[in-house]
Amino acid sequence: TGAAKDAAGGRLIMATNAEFPPYEYHDGDAVVGIDAEIAKAIADELGMELEIEDIAFDSIIPEIVSGKADMGLAGMTVTEDRMQSVDFSNTYAKASQKIIVTEDSEIASPDDLKGVIVGVQLGTTGDIYVSDLEADGTTVERYNKGFEAVQALSQGKIDAVVIDGEPAKTFVAETQGLKILDESFTDEEYAIAVKKGNTELLEKINGALKTLKDNGTLDEIVAKYIKA
Ligand code: ARG
Repeated sequence: TGAAKDAAGGRLIMATNAEFPPYEYHDGDAVVGIDAEIAKAIADELGMELEIEDIAFDSIIPEIVSGKADMGLAGMTVTEDRMQSVDFSNTYAKASQKIIVTEDSEIASPDDLKGVIVGVQLGTTGDIYVSDLEADGTTVERYNKGFEAVQALSQGKIDAVVIDGEPAKTFVAETQGLKILDESFTDEEYAIAVKKGNTELLEKINGALKTLKDNGTLDEIVAKYIKA
């Protein structure tokens, strides 16, 4: 069993972009949040040492493709397009793209995004879906961090921000004069990305995810960060 233990051990490198509360964000030097805790719990299940790499969101998939990171947890939405480059685990969360506007805005639904200036985080599904509106005269401003888009909105530089619902709540709570529209722009699901064809790791991750779901750990982690 010594050898088996050695084989099971080792480092599990997670790539993320810690600009996405409550899924991943900085607490001092540490990266904390739902994804960080899920990753740690998976690593523990597999008897591995978790290492977190905080990089640009649009570098996460390339980092996995090149093998520099073993898995990507970043509130990452499963899309057909991304499935061309990486394999995804079973999904572990439901999410949606939400629209943030100023309290006095005339923008009241996704349709109203046509022809206005919309901020997004570069390379996210918000970016991808809002970019489809460019044909309708929408201008897309792409920021490295979601919060930078929210700041630009509160400074009147842009008309709306499209971003995932949970970070939207956090950012709006931290900023004066903004609100989130009820109607979602899209519905999505988050999963863990691994290198295409790495079925060994994928199966281990799915097994660990199932254990963490069944024993309540996953719910506990989420409840710690998202108050119902
Ligand atoms: N769910 C969106 C996507 O997959 C946004 C994720 C952004 N995550 C982050 N850690 N910055 O594109």
